[in-house]
Amino acid sequence: MCGIVGYIGRQDAAPVVLEGLTRLEHRGYDSAGVAVLGGRGIRVAKRAGRVRQLGDALPKRFTGTTGIGHTRWATHGPATDRNAHPHVDESGRVAVVHNGIIDNSAALRAELTDAGVALASDTDTEVLAHLVARSDADTLEGKVRDALRVVVGTYGLAVVHADFPDRIVVARNGSPLVVGVGDKEMYVASDLAAIVRHTTTVAMLDDGEMATVTAAGFTTMRHSDLSSTGKTASQVDIDAAAYDAGEHESYMRKEILEQPTTAQAVLRGRLDERFGTAHLGGLDMDARDLRAVRRVKILGCGSAYYVGQMGAALIEELARIPADAEAASEFRYRDPVIEPDTLYVAVSQSGETIDTLLAVQEVRRKGGRCVGLVNVVGSAIARECDGGIYLHAGPEVAVASTKALTNMFLGFALLALQLGRVRDLSIADGKRLVAGLERLPGQIEEVLAGEDGLVDVARSLAEARSLFFIGRVRGFPVAREGAQKFKEISYRHAEAYQTSELKHGPLALIDPDVPTVALVPRDELTESNIGALHEIDARQGPLVVITHPEVDLGEIGAHRIDVPRNEPELDPILLTIPLQLLAYHAARHLGHDIDKPRNLAKSVTVE
Ligand code: AGP
Repeated sequence: MCGIVGYIGRQDAAPVVLEGLTRLEHRGYDSAGVAVLGGRGIRVAKRAGRVRQLGDALPKRFTGTTGIGHTRWATHGPATDRNAHPHVDESGRVAVVHNGIIDNSAALRAELTDAGVALASDTDTEVLAHLVARSDADTLEGKVRDALRVVVGTYGLAVVHADFPDRIVVARNGSPLVVGVGDKEMYVASDLAAIVRHTTTVAMLDDGEMATVTAAGFTTMRHSDLSSTGKTASQVDIDAAAYDAGEHESYMRKEILEQPTTAQAVLRGRLDERFGTAHLGGLDMDARDLRAVRRVKILGCGSAYYVGQMGAALIEELARIPADAEAASEFRYRDPVIEPDTLYVAVSQSGETIDTLLAVQEVRRKGGRCVGLVNVVGSAIARECDGGIYLHAGPEVAVASTKALTNMFLGFALLALQLGRVRDLSIADGKRLVAGLERLPGQIEEVLAGEDGLVDVARSLAEARSLFFIGRVRGFPVAREGAQKFKEISYRHAEAYQTSELKHGPLALIDPDVPTVALVPRDELTESNIGALHEIDARQGPLVVITHPEVDLGEIGAHRIDVPRNEPELDPILLTIPLQLLAYHAARHLGHDIDKPRNLAKSVTVE
């Protein structure tokens, strides 16, 4: 998704802004641009393509100590030079970068055209530059306020104006913005990743908030009436090195390998061996509140939705209360009935996914209680929820989610354990699961140690144009996640099915060119799963079987990948790890840009 970086201070702004933009590249974008404000007014350079190409093509003497930059992910109009941000007004004295969508841009564009303004792009953003320029307020803050009064939509935006050269004005409504404090220099960004090498003293803007940022500091205000919100900056506990790939050839590989450590982080201090339960202080729910929960509804998008399905199964098994997961992107459009005794759980790595955020708002607007399983501390979803469980996976940079997803599963396991133990889950079962959770990080490490054995299998899967991922009950969301990961970065058609549904249709597609990745844990469904494998084998369908060492596949011709057994309820996450490696090595074999898959963004902040 789009990214914003701004700088004001003593240095030349363009290199700082460009460097910040490269830190946001993984979020997904198709064009980039930068505006600098110097002695000769505003100068803009922008183009379709990569930030590096933009940097190589900067005009001479592109100097100024104030600058704003942007990486664009096309929504309104194709990825062309003219549609790239920043956008300027007709006089070239105002420049704007914007994340989000202006919903009424068509009407505003028509009004501006009728008023004789010549629009220079197809974008929704451009209207902002003209609206700011046309305001007759005598401060830049007043001009931005006037522009935002007529705008409907979501935005994180940064504005510079040649008549107010000492400042950048930023505003937020539904799209993140952070202000970073340096020494006589200040930064703005849509993501901490862009500025964390310069400063960890930051202020996150809230929706409806605006900030004036000068080299000396910042002040915040409501953009409706410019009344002060008095926000101050605070220190965030983040190691800038966590945003570097280090010796790894991609962030995805780094993040896959970090899982034994990050899995420990989400469990740390939360397991109670004595009572076989979990402590989740951030939920802000006592035993009575937890007992009053009659149903759990999990809301997330993409992989977060699939892990939500794994979580729902865990909750239903351990707490014996009905639980299900739903795509947050669909939820609010069906005008859902919000029940007072349902616990809604929003799950999100970024904490900024707009569909999930809007689902949370729908729940809360109707009086429901929504807690969050979120990785990014202080993110919009975390703040919107009534309480929650931080995932402590550290920054996840690769578009394909791995370590955050694992921690989401563990977060659900903790929640299920706590919900179970205030009900009928026995202390013996509680202790069994606590012990299982404690074993998991080491077992993840064991699976990762088998990576070399997966490389050739992944390569053979990469050669297929289409493949199936199958699993049953606990294994089905694992299959969905496996197919998701594979298609995201290999661009192969990968489809997940319940193993039990094969005969009801998709078996027609099985032939020697269509491989199947099957999840066959040692559980009550093993025999039935093996029956399905026979059916695939009989049709010469290539098979990769992810299973437990105890499972005997007999004469079935398959490549088997063994993972260690844990408690059956916790097996799904160990079955997921090889699927990450298969997707990774398939994409690597195909030569794809693993961290920046085509058309995708790390954080989907527009509907
Ligand atoms: C995961 O590999 C995907 N990139 C994507 O499905 C992601 O999980 C989804 O967009 C939700 O993101 P979130 O966890 O940041 O809300």
